[in-house]
Amino acid sequence: MDSMDAPEFWDDQAAEFDEAPDHGLRDAAVRGAWAGLLLPLLPPAPARVADLGCGTGTLTVLMAQAGHRVAGLDFAPRMVALAREKIAAAGVAADVVVGDASSPPWKAGSFDVVLTRHVPWALPDPEAALTMWIDVLGPGGRLILIEGRWSSGVGLGSADVAELVLRHRSEAEVTRLDDPALWGTPIDDERYVITSRR
Ligand SMILES: C[S@@+](CC[C@H](N)C(=O)[O-])C[C@H]1O[C@@H](n2cnc3c(N)ncnc32)[C@H](O)[C@@H]1O
Repeated sequence: MDSMDAPEFWDDQAAEFDEAPDHGLRDAAVRGAWAGLLLPLLPPAPARVADLGCGTGTLTVLMAQAGHRVAGLDFAPRMVALAREKIAAAGVAADVVVGDASSPPWKAGSFDVVLTRHVPWALPDPEAALTMWIDVLGPGGRLILIEGRWSSGVGLGSADVAELVLRHRSEAEVTRLDDPALWGTPIDDERYVITSRR
């Protein structure tokens, strides 16, 4: 089997990826929970948002529907193809490209927000990637890192990710995401969002 830092690993999961309630947000209550969490974390629309490791583009579309100018990036071509289909079906404008989240192909200062959901844990060098993400943020830009250490044994703990962020930024606010409405089921592991505005 391919390792999770190979695009083939994620391409193999693309067709079924949206079946998980928090991935596809097909259930209105779960979708509403993510909208209620995420949209207030963003600056007023239209903000320029980079959704790195965007997968099938579910959050890309959610944010574009709220009026943001979203660019998605993922290194798995099947994920990108599904994201583009989802964007077209939703009738919103958002660009999604195949690329490496560890070195996004954008100029410094291109975005107001860099958002990732469940991505740093899958990267070979999360700190190196983080420095690139900070680079593509303009002054006052926000980092929004949704991450977890799951009961499956994989993932990154909030203290470790906060410590990583604080090596490069002065704020790393951790909010636990324990609400079962976000996941479509009760959870007993560590899920959180780290917000860094400076
Ligand atoms: C757990 S999925 C999360 C997808 C999406 N962010 C979401 O929450 O629905 C992880 C995603 O990160 C992508 N990914 C992992 N490593 C990557 C890298 N180095 N560059 C770009 N994408 C990457 C995978 O292809 C996959 O789509």
